[in-house]
Amino acid sequence: MTGYRLTRLLPADHLHHALRADARSGLGGQPKRLPPKWFYDARGSELFEEITRLPEYYPTRAEREILTARAGEIAAVTGARTLVELGSGSSEKTRLLLDALRDQGTLERYVPVDVSESALESAGKALIAEYPGLEVSAVLSDFTTGLGLPEGGGPRLVAFLGGTLGNLLPAERAAFLSGLRAQLLPGDALLLGTDLVKDPEVLVAAYDDAAGVTAAFNRNVLTVLNRELDADFYPEQFAHVALWDAEQEWIEMRLRALRPQSVKVAELGLAVHFEEGEELYTEVSAKFRRERVERELFAAGLRLSDWWTDEEGRFGLSLSRPMADASD
Ligand code: AVJ
Repeated sequence: MTGYRLTRLLPADHLHHALRADARSGLGGQPKRLPPKWFYDARGSELFEEITRLPEYYPTRAEREILTARAGEIAAVTGARTLVELGSGSSEKTRLLLDALRDQGTLERYVPVDVSESALESAGKALIAEYPGLEVSAVLSDFTTGLGLPEGGGPRLVAFLGGTLGNLLPAERAAFLSGLRAQLLPGDALLLGTDLVKDPEVLVAAYDDAAGVTAAFNRNVLTVLNRELDADFYPEQFAHVALWDAEQEWIEMRLRALRPQSVKVAELGLAVHFEEGEELYTEVSAKFRRERVERELFAAGLRLSDWWTDEEGRFGLSLSRPMADASD
């Protein structure tokens, strides 16, 4: 069967419920926190696309450089018939992999997995037009809480690109990778993009660009709360903060209250007080070394088989395979 098909594994109100729960616990905590997934409404996704074109934001270009150089090799060693892409968004880098799989004659199916139904639909429909005979089985799901990959169509290549793994905390990463491993069969492979540890100045600039696009992206999460939960944040009352935590080896983004203020979140019946200078933690973006990628994969039951970086060694792309276990 060819064409576009969507499987909804999230109830229609899932996102709203999850946001309410995250806002309630996160704004009530010490320090205050919000998970980074709430950046990506339509405006936030647009701002992120703009970030990927900034001179300071190298990860997208570095990963594309690797994929451009290695897609043929990745296709050859995996022999994949199905390409699964987690957090597919606009599916832009996907085309490099789809082209390579098509050219070697194994490509049958593309499975984009995303929380955004509109992103799935527009990307999916564009791809069926560009790849005649391709079956697109989109899955609406939140990969931080469970994947629900369709069965069959192996060998499958599961791509998790962009360095998004780094937006999970270490315990969340371990749970995510083990959950993913549990859904893989012998012959399947994971293609994982991870941004690498480098000069802190380069890292901080990538998350605090001169044009202020990342600042707008960070503040946009407050606009999301205003709209979705009837809150009354003044985004311009918060400064964008990006810092390098050398011990954890991650970039942190925060929003710092410029003066003391009280914010109402009407839908939660909540009043949230910020002291002057108090920070709301909005994102970590972990940076890796090859050894850590290999160790974390291994702990989840995945064995790294290939490791590629861009010329400058800024970004890493790994290919790993499930290790045999009693249930296979
Ligand atoms: C979602 C991993 C691609 O952490 O670099 C970009 C999101 N945040 N600028 C990252 C992001 C600030 C991004 N990824």
